[in-house]
Amino acid sequence: MINTPASTSRITDEAARRRTFAIISHPDAGKTTMTEKMLLFGNALVEAGAVESKRGRGTASDWMDMEKRRGISVSSTVLRFEHEDKVINLLDTPGHSDFSEDTLRVMSAVDGAVILIDAAKGIESQTLRLFEVARSRGIPLITFINKCDRPGIDPLELLDHIESTLDLMPTAMSWPVGDPGDLLGVVDRRSGSFHRFNRNPGGRSSRGGVIATLDDSFDPEVPAWVRAREELALLDDAGHEFDFDMVESGLSTPVFFGSALTNFGVELLLNAVIELSPPPSARVDLEGVERALDSDFSGLVFKVQANMDPRHRDRNAFIRICSGRFERGMKVTNARTEKPIALNYSSEAFGRQRETLDEGFPGDIVGIVGATDLQVGDTVFQGEPLLYPPLPTLAPEHFIQIRNADARRHKQFSRALSQLAEEGVIHVLTQDGGRDPMPILGAVGQLQFEVAIERMSTEFGVEVLSDQTRWKLARRTDEESAEVITRGGLADVRTRTDGMVFALFANQFQVERLERDKPELRLDRLVG
Ligand code: G4P
Repeated sequence: MINTPASTSRITDEAARRRTFAIISHPDAGKTTMTEKMLLFGNALVEAGAVESKRGRGTASDWMDMEKRRGISVSSTVLRFEHEDKVINLLDTPGHSDFSEDTLRVMSAVDGAVILIDAAKGIESQTLRLFEVARSRGIPLITFINKCDRPGIDPLELLDHIESTLDLMPTAMSWPVGDPGDLLGVVDRRSGSFHRFNRNPGGRSSRGGVIATLDDSFDPEVPAWVRAREELALLDDAGHEFDFDMVESGLSTPVFFGSALTNFGVELLLNAVIELSPPPSARVDLEGVERALDSDFSGLVFKVQANMDPRHRDRNAFIRICSGRFERGMKVTNARTEKPIALNYSSEAFGRQRETLDEGFPGDIVGIVGATDLQVGDTVFQGEPLLYPPLPTLAPEHFIQIRNADARRHKQFSRALSQLAEEGVIHVLTQDGGRDPMPILGAVGQLQFEVAIERMSTEFGVEVLSDQTRWKLARRTDEESAEVITRGGLADVRTRTDGMVFALFANQFQVERLERDKPELRLDRLVG
């Protein structure tokens, strides 16, 4: 479709209405609950329970049996709803740090993220990694301290904790009033209004009542109020003022307090996402050229997921629209293959349920069903060709060597491996990049192996035997360095399915020694 002046202004207007963000949290911090409550505001669901929680009830975004058994979310999905006059695209991320790479890919598709922290636990070590991954993308982060309805860490201590752990300047936007386990409400620091906490188990309709201003609500007879006032004065004195530029540049994080379960503070957070999380902006391609939002259609495949529904063995590709207008059935070019592809069966994904999406704008996520030609990291476009930079991946830290238990099923074995590699489930490392009957699988976390092996069995009927290897870490290298490394027997050199070359080491000491002895070699930690 050729964009006319009228349609280009519509594209910019629609893009400005989009807020595309992800929620990142440690498992059990309340991500599922928060998602449910947010959807209530968007009237996306009749009642929040429709996005069912884990632990036996099954989750809309959890599709593998393994996920259900373990109560973890391996995959991520997209939820889309409207709030006020904005269109919200909420991307789920796996809570477990073993799937940090998936989080990293999601971060390439969003314009902001909400960090959810359990008030009683603070930032947990496993979650730190996910936060670092989010930060590495330089997107604005909003922090929500959840579970404030029950005893937790002192709020001032939590702010210190965020500052020291995340190396991010926290700015309290709301402030809790009350003793541990007896929350009276929160003060909205900017408006000076007080939102009274209304314990409403299940919290399907409670939005947290606003009671006039901070001054009107202040009760000198209540010690918690006196303390809250002192704390607020302290925050003012410490210069914890909100600075939009610092948030946008990833130096500061606005902090909100509330309780997802009782639906308290959720609307304040949602409003903050609308206000503080930026709308989509023009992306830069590999050549450093900006693709204007209102130019021809372009999109980035940030996720590929096959066999989500065992009844339909299909392959879904999730595309973040970067520019232009998406229309169902449109013909685009895949920049990697230079081949045309029709985006026919588009959907907005809702966990397992899908609704057809006929039209989309920058910031929207489109799920293309049956997208066998699309791989993670692909750029699709109309009009002026372009290629977006490759998606970053993390260097694997765990390695196993696998082989097919039944040599007759070698075709299925290779097909399974290339499918899982194209989805980014696992790194498949082979000698010389060729067909290797005993490839090494590389992962950022052990659970990735479990997912890969289970999927090879259930989806491809391939049983594999696996052995531990002595490799403990990998560095990305290039052909030239690889030759030196192989010649000197300095590490094991392997090629990933996408052609990227890795050197595998048994310990950190080996890497450091090589870096010291041969500084000219390329040995990168973060890949891409
Ligand atoms: P996750 O997706 O991040 O893993 O967390 P999820 O929402 O499943 O929440 C984990 C547990 O924390 C759940 O309890 C949930 O009810 C509880 N929770 C979430 N938000 C709050 C909150 O604001 N306050 C309190 N007190 N609890 C909260 P569960 O007993 O493990 O499961 P369930 O039986 O309630 O589903």
